[in-house]
Amino acid sequence: MNRSTAPGKHDDGLRVPDGSTANDSRGCFSFSFNGEFVTAMEGDTVAAALWACGIKVFRQSPRTGAPRGVFCAMGVCQECVVRVNGRVCTSCNTPAEPGMDVQSFSLYQVDGAST
Ligand code: FES
Repeated sequence: MNRSTAPGKHDDGLRVPDGSTANDSRGCFSFSFNGEFVTAMEGDTVAAALWACGIKVFRQSPRTGAPRGVFCAMGVCQECVVRVNGRVCTSCNTPAEPGMDVQSFSLYQVDGAST
């Protein structure tokens, strides 16, 4: 499933509309989040691209199951942690790149095993 309707267009209205000068020069590309293709724009962080596609829950709390996503948006709280191409990182300060594989992540996962 693709979260965008076309390159540069997103189905939830969170982007500046086409025709604005703000986004005209930025290119679009896609990456996957939990196997679902999402569209990003050059300069997006992983978190910004996911939000723009309407994805605000990046993982669940391993203790309570509560949804987790962006909280501080500056790399401090670790609430937005995801696995990018197998590497654990904070999505709010990781630049989105074409073709990257982004997966939800539990802080208690070690090498794919969950405790
Ligand atoms: S939202 Fe706090 S580290 Fe990303």
